[in-house]
Amino acid sequence: MNYRVPRTRKEIFETLIKGLQRLEYRGYDSAGVAIDGNNNEVKERHIQLVKKRGNVKALDEELYKQDSMDLKVEFETHFGIAHTRWATHGVPNAVNSHPQRSDKGNEFVVIHNGIITNYKDLRKFLESKGYEFESETDTETIAKLIKYVFDNRETEDITFSTLVERVIQQLGVKAIGNSVPSYPYRRGSPLLIGVRSKYKLSTEQIPVLYRTRNIENVKNICKTRMKRLDSSTCLHAVGDKAVEFFFASDASAIIEHTNRVIFLEDDDIAAVADGKLSIHRVKRLASDDPSRAIQTLQMELQQIMKGNFSAFMQKEIFEQPESVFNTMRGRVNFETNTVLLGGLKDHLKEIRRCRRLIVIGCGTSYHAAVATRQVLEELTELPVMVELASDFLDRNTPVFRDDVCFFISQSGETADTLLALRYCKDRRALTVGVTNTVGSSISRETDCGVHINAGPEIGVASTKAYTSQFISLVMFGLMMSEDRISLQNRRREIIHGLKSLPELIKEVLSLDEKIHDLALELYTQRSLLVMGRGYNYATCLEGALKIKEITYMHSEGILAGELKHGPLALIDKQMPVIMVIMKDPCFAKCQNALQQVTARQGRPIILCSKDDTESSKFAYKTIELPHTVDCLQGILSVIPLQLLSFHLAVLRGYDVDFPRNLAKSVTVE
Ligand code: G6P
Repeated sequence: MNYRVPRTRKEIFETLIKGLQRLEYRGYDSAGVAIDGNNNEVKERHIQLVKKRGNVKALDEELYKQDSMDLKVEFETHFGIAHTRWATHGVPNAVNSHPQRSDKGNEFVVIHNGIITNYKDLRKFLESKGYEFESETDTETIAKLIKYVFDNRETEDITFSTLVERVIQQLGVKAIGNSVPSYPYRRGSPLLIGVRSKYKLSTEQIPVLYRTRNIENVKNICKTRMKRLDSSTCLHAVGDKAVEFFFASDASAIIEHTNRVIFLEDDDIAAVADGKLSIHRVKRLASDDPSRAIQTLQMELQQIMKGNFSAFMQKEIFEQPESVFNTMRGRVNFETNTVLLGGLKDHLKEIRRCRRLIVIGCGTSYHAAVATRQVLEELTELPVMVELASDFLDRNTPVFRDDVCFFISQSGETADTLLALRYCKDRRALTVGVTNTVGSSISRETDCGVHINAGPEIGVASTKAYTSQFISLVMFGLMMSEDRISLQNRRREIIHGLKSLPELIKEVLSLDEKIHDLALELYTQRSLLVMGRGYNYATCLEGALKIKEITYMHSEGILAGELKHGPLALIDKQMPVIMVIMKDPCFAKCQNALQQVTARQGRPIILCSKDDTESSKFAYKTIELPHTVDCLQGILSVIPLQLLSFHLAVLRGYDVDFPRNLAKSVTVE
C-alpha cells in the first residue's frame, strides 16, 4: 500500500507476486490478487481481482492474459492484496481461492488466514437476507458480512474502520490473520507491517488508540479520531513525503523492500489513510502494551534464496554446520564449560523450583522434545513430559502453577501449540518458548524463551530447525545443571561434544553420494521402516516423518523395544528396514532387535558408528557415522535420513519444497 510513490499496475503486480512466491511454502494450492489505485485519469474506480488454481507461477501467467488490464497505467496511491492458499474449507480451485468478494462488483474484497468457526450460521443468515455465495469457503462470509453491515448502515458516512470492527465482532474467530485492504486486522495468525520511506519517519513508536466506549454507541468515532491523528498518534514520512506500507504474514514476503517492521498484536486493527498508519483497538486491557515499535529485522534476502541448491530443503540440510553453530554462538563458553541462555537467565531460579517440565510441540518440533527428553531428565533431575499439542489439549491435561511448560515451534505460529500455550498460561504455569521466528506469537506470548537462531527455514519439511531445537534444549539442560557437583563430568563431556558438532555434521554431509545411491535402490518401494531406541528413537520418528512428508511412501518410526510386540510381523525379505544402532547404552538391546530382524530374512540397512564391526556383519548395507556423546548422537543420525528422504522424493519426481497437502506453518487447529 503506498502514498505518493507512483507505481504502474505492472509494478504492483510484480511486488505482490514476488511476495507470494516468498510465502509459497505456507500454502500453494491456489492463489489470487486484488488491486485498486488512484490517479487523476481513472475516474471510475474498481477493484480488479484475478484468481487461479495452482501455484503462484500459474497466477502470474494468468495476470498477463487479462486483456482488460492496462499494465502501464500508473497510480499515485494504490493498494493491492494477494494470497496463496492452503485449503481448509472447500477444494482448491479459482473460486475458492482468496481474495473473496462481497458481490460481483468487487465492492469489498478479503483475504484471511485461519478459520471462521461460526461461518455456517453466518452464511445461512446472509443467504436468508438474499446474499448469494459463490465459493465453499468460510472467508467469503467475511466479505458478505461487510456488505451486509454496509448495506444496513444507519448513517451514510459510516467509516470503513467502523465497518471492519462491527464485522469482526460477529465472527467466531479461531485465527484471522489479515483481512480487508486498508484495514488489516490480526487475531491468532501472524501479521506484520513493513514500512519503507526514503524520508525521515514521524515516529518510531506508534501509540495504540482505543475506543472509549462500545462502538455501537459511538457513531463516526473513527472519523473524529482520524481528525485527531497527528504525528504522535500515527506513522508517516515527515512532511507528507512518500511512504509505502507492506502488510504480510511473514517477514520473508517483504524483506526485499524493507527490514523496518511493526509486529501487530492480537486484536490490533491497522488503518492506513492519506499515507498515515495508525493502530487501534476496541478496548484497552490492563496487560496491553501502549505502543507498537518499529523494529529492524536482521534477516537478509540471501537467507531466503535457494542459491546453488535445487531445493530449499537441500540448502537447509547443508546449512546445518552453520545453523547449529549459530544456535550455540555466544551462549556456550567452551573455556569455562558454562552455558548462558539470555532469555532464560532471569527465570532460572523459578524453573529450578518447579515440580516438572512439560515440553509441547507438533510434528518435527515434537520430535525435538522426544530426542532430548532423556538428557533433560538427567541434567535437570526433574520429571519431563513430552506432549503433542493437539493431544495435550484433547486430554485437558492437568497443569499446575509449579509446572514449567516449554513450547517448541519453528514458526512460533502453529495453532495447536499456541492454544496449548494459552491453556498453560490460564493455569498460571511458567511458559517458555523455543522458536525460530523473532516476533512470532509464541515468542511474544511466553514468559521467557530461547530463540534457536537457525535462520529462516523455508522448506516445508523441517530440517535445520530440528537440530537447532535439539541443541537449544540440551543447552537449557546444561544451564540448569551448572551447580550440580555430581554432574560436572557429564556436563564437560556434553559441552565438549557440542564444540565438535559442526565439524562432525560436515563429515556426515559428505556421505551424500552414498545416500543418493541408497535412494536409487529404494525409491520404487512402497514402504520403509525406521527402527531404533533410546537416544535414537526420535531419529526414527523424525526420519520416518521426513520420508512420509515428501516422498509419500509409507514410513514408520518404530521403537526397537516394541519390535516383538507387533512390528516384527511386517518383516520379510522384501520390506526395507533401516536400523539406527549407535554405540550407546542401548547398543546390546539393539543387537537383539537386529537378530530378530535377520532371523526373519529381513535385510537391514544399518546406520551405525564408524567402529562398529559387530552390526555390520549382519547388515545388508551400512551407513557409517562419526561418533559423538550419546545424547547428541541423534543430531548426527538424523541427517542421513534427511538426505535420504530428499533423494527419494527427487527420484520419485516430487517437488521437495512443496509436498502435497502440507503447509509449513499450520495456523489452524
Ligand atoms: C507443520 C509442518 C511441520 C512442522 C509442524 C510444526 O506440520 O509441515 O514441518 O514440524 O508444522 O511446526 P512448528 O512451526 O510449530 O515447528
